[in-house]
Amino acid sequence: MPDGYILGIESSCDETAAAVVRSGEQLISNVVASQFATHQPYGGVVPELASREHLRAIVPVVRQAMASANCSFDAVDAIAVTQGPGLAGSLLVGISYAKALAFALEKPLIAVNHLEGHIHAVLLEERQKGNHELQFPVLALVVSGGHTHLYRAEQKGLSWTYSNIGHTRDDAAGEAFDKVAKLLGLGYPGGPVIDRLSTHGNPEAVKFTSAQIKHRDRREQTDGHGIEDANSDQPRFDFSYSGIKTAVLRFVEAHNMQPAIEERRRNLAKIPKPKLEDYLANCDRETLDLVASFQRAMITDLVGRTLAAAQAYEVATLLVTGGVAANNELRQTFERRAAIEGVPVFFPSRPLSTDNAAMIAAAAYPKFLAKQFAPMDFSAEAGMALR
Ligand code: KG4
Ligand code: ZN
Repeated sequence: MPDGYILGIESSCDETAAAVVRSGEQLISNVVASQFATHQPYGGVVPELASREHLRAIVPVVRQAMASANCSFDAVDAIAVTQGPGLAGSLLVGISYAKALAFALEKPLIAVNHLEGHIHAVLLEERQKGNHELQFPVLALVVSGGHTHLYRAEQKGLSWTYSNIGHTRDDAAGEAFDKVAKLLGLGYPGGPVIDRLSTHGNPEAVKFTSAQIKHRDRREQTDGHGIEDANSDQPRFDFSYSGIKTAVLRFVEAHNMQPAIEERRRNLAKIPKPKLEDYLANCDRETLDLVASFQRAMITDLVGRTLAAAQAYEVATLLVTGGVAANNELRQTFERRAAIEGVPVFFPSRPLSTDNAAMIAAAAYPKFLAKQFAPMDFSAEAGMALR
């Protein structure tokens, strides 16, 4: 197969990223400019601010990716950019810049689905390690701040085809981590903080019942493992995480934790980049136990439902990717439980779990080989589905 140096550009949410990847298997450079500091005071991503920050960052980030790859624009074979899903205004910054570059350099342009990008983050790193053998069918869990999606993937020629067999009915898993962290005065983004604090609490202390987590659906089978889709005979494995957030809120109210939360919020706001010691110094036992129990409940549900889907669809390989895939307890639980089930499970490294452009450049390579180029008038698709 011919070599292909692809410059990837990603701007779908709150990270402006650019990367150079060779032939979907060698990471040459990877630059990510995070907007955490901008959105931190609001406890979540503010779309208008995100677009403005992308505009500020896009040129220096692409230049830095090219410089650290020691690569000239002439040597690039194609330019790949995220088309969706994501925030429309943010996507448009990356797309407009990629189009301008492709036009000026007379290079082909490739439009990539962000979710397929997350899946290719795993493939890129496995190929880089020399693992080119992947058994199909594959089940991919894409679990991030915006998505909790399960796809069954098959290979068709050079490209993959996907069928969605589960998604969240309300909040995404990462969104639940972020909302619970905000509720407890732990700042944004919530996932990494909750991940680190959880090892200091008792995950059995607060019992979240499955009724608090599970989405009630009248088509649901009594064992809770899969819902028959009314339009097909394929079982579905949907998630729901807004109930557990409400359960955490009820616990906070019932245990009169609000004054301590307000104090923690004020104290942490005074520290520019709080460290684990700062969080620990501002959390009592009850809070640490609540955080650990919340994480345990989330992970038990995510892993249980995904493995039930893996079994129902008799998949040969499991991929777990997206921001929440960086979570330590999630990885350990998947590894332990998937080994029992006899399904190999793969994750991206932590830097490639969260949003980046290497995954976009890697996902573009099969499209480059198939000459699936995007027309110059293509636009952002905020709600783009993966097929
Ligand atoms: O993939 P990503 O960077 O952006 C989206 O496409 O959404 O994921 C960001 C999400 C945030 O909700 C963040 O709290 C969560 O991933 N996250 C984590 C961890 N690191 C990031 N959640 C749990 N544990 C972590 N270690
Ligand atoms: Zn993402």
